[in-house]
Amino acid sequence: MRQLKANIYEAGAIDWDARLFDRLIPLPDGTSYNSYLIKGSEKTALLDTVDSAKTEVLLAHLAELEVVKLDYVIAHHAEQDHSGSLPDVLLLYPDAKVATNPRCKQMLIDLLGIEEDKFITVEDGETLSLGDKTLQFVYLPWVHWPETMGTYLKEDKVLFSCDFFGAHLATSSLFVDDEATVYESAKRYYAEIMMPFRRQINANLAKIEQMKIEIIAPSHGPVHNRPEFIIDAYKDWVSDAVKNEVVVLYVSMHGSTAKMVSHFVEALIDRGITVKQFELSTVDIGRLAIALVDVATVVIGSPTVLAGPHPCAAYAAFLANALRPKTKFVSIVGSFGWGGKMLEQLTAMLPNLKAEILEPVLTKGEPKQPDFVALDALADNILAKHKEIGIVN
Ligand code: FEO
Repeated sequence: MRQLKANIYEAGAIDWDARLFDRLIPLPDGTSYNSYLIKGSEKTALLDTVDSAKTEVLLAHLAELEVVKLDYVIAHHAEQDHSGSLPDVLLLYPDAKVATNPRCKQMLIDLLGIEEDKFITVEDGETLSLGDKTLQFVYLPWVHWPETMGTYLKEDKVLFSCDFFGAHLATSSLFVDDEATVYESAKRYYAEIMMPFRRQINANLAKIEQMKIEIIAPSHGPVHNRPEFIIDAYKDWVSDAVKNEVVVLYVSMHGSTAKMVSHFVEALIDRGITVKQFELSTVDIGRLAIALVDVATVVIGSPTVLAGPHPCAAYAAFLANALRPKTKFVSIVGSFGWGGKMLEQLTAMLPNLKAEILEPVLTKGEPKQPDFVALDALADNILAKHKEIGIVN
């Protein structure tokens, strides 16, 4: 059994084979649903449960830990990857009370049909004693739902942060043993679900800064025994700072847009700008989301299909708009056969990006010399804009 400290165990499930989260997000390295058991001298608490598909694993771990009586299940978050097993846990331990905030309580009633008399509600900062261990609840809204919260175990200085600081990473190591790998997985996780809420996350980072934390135990991925590693990474991601980078997202049907993108990417490289290029019919959207976290400029390349943008480009624009990266500049390049509203439709899909739209480049049919000149001018414009905001050395 994986043990964090004396009488603190990780009893959840490693999901090695998970490959898609929310039927949307690729999980190249699986994930885990962490559920922590804390045995106090008087009472026992389980912090979160697991996805319903892994209920048997959780129950087997509780049996292995000889949990005969459970006094509390702390519900940090109502989303089903952490609450899915709650009905079964409450069936097995009928005396257990679910401790959570009022908003999460209502969501658990709505999502899982948990009966009202199973709950006790806790306020921000309130404590609950397990005897020699004291749980203090910390409201952490919008990481990444409105009801999310954490628990600080005072005597052991452990912050159980739920999704906050998590990573989709299946690993047998309880603690982070390879920061580079965890950094990538945590950034992917941040990009996919936390990024739209970076202002609220900033406030939550300020809130936990006051606390003495030796361990951060999230609900996905390994446990952080060097908390400053993940806290510093989050501070960087939520800051307003962007890098001298361009993300180029493109799809091409008959090669015209591909030729433009190829020329344009070379032009950016020639100007000393870092480029990340993604082909949209084959892209791992997790990698794309990571690239969006701190990029200064996004350029979308699309042909005109059915008088509008290629559906792959529309999907990428919709996703980028939903993720709300701190991107400062956006442009569009592409091609058309006879006409259409590709440019207008794509631009209209990006209202959440508080970005300046730079002069796009469209070509009729194959790109020709004037189009390549226009692409060079767009690269010049991007370099000038990056200089303006002080990110070019
Ligand atoms: Fe891991 Fe928002 O659930």
